Amino acid sequence: MDACIAIRTRRTIKSFTGAEVSRSQVEELVSLACCAPNHRLTQPWRFAAIDRPGIARLIAFVQSDALVGVMDARKVSTMVERVAGCGAIVQVSSVIAGGDEQQREDRDATCAAVQNLLIAAQASGLGSFWSTNPVFAHPAVVRWFGGDPAAECHIGAIWLGVPTQQPAAPPRRPLNEVLRWA
Ligand SMILES: Cc1cc2nc3c(=O)[nH]c(=O)nc-3n(C[C@H](O)[C@H](O)[C@H](O)COP(=O)(O)O)c2cc1C
Repeated sequence: MDACIAIRTRRTIKSFTGAEVSRSQVEELVSLACCAPNHRLTQPWRFAAIDRPGIARLIAFVQSDALVGVMDARKVSTMVERVAGCGAIVQVSSVIAGGDEQQREDRDATCAAVQNLLIAAQASGLGSFWSTNPVFAHPAVVRWFGGDPAAECHIGAIWLGVPTQQPAAPPRRPLNEVLRWA
């Protein structure tokens, strides 16, 4: 698929068929994410992926007795209900290093990497969702994914799968509201 078409047709997808997304598909998407621009070549992005068996283990973990009362129960139940259909999930974080400017630019670069991933998913026929549901950012869940909450800031959980929906594009501001020729 042409890159411009992938950009225009990508939508946030929250409902998936339950079909698996293979590890090799995820690896290709992450490798494309890593092509994003990044100042001083810090390559600050980090990814932690789970496939369908991993999603089942994550659901069991967030519902375990140890986490009862630790996280917002409503957020947990929404998340559990929806992720059950995902084919894979990729947690994205940005390494915390240097001063304020580097940290800001590294976070910006990691967001650019996420957008690469979303566009690449669309181009390969997969739906995606950039979720900032706090369950995924919770230190216990970050650690479950093998991350260190003190060393990396959480950027989002990217849900991937075969979509069951094709939502209409939400309205965008007209170009003359967002583009100024100086
Ligand atoms: C940083 C970021 C975090 C987001 N987190 C959420 C989220 O937690 N829940 C949600 O419903 N949508 C979330 N979204 C998706 C937006 O709601 C979505 O992009 C927006 O409605 C535009 O729709 P589109 O992606 O189909 O163009 C997030 C998007 C971004 C960029």
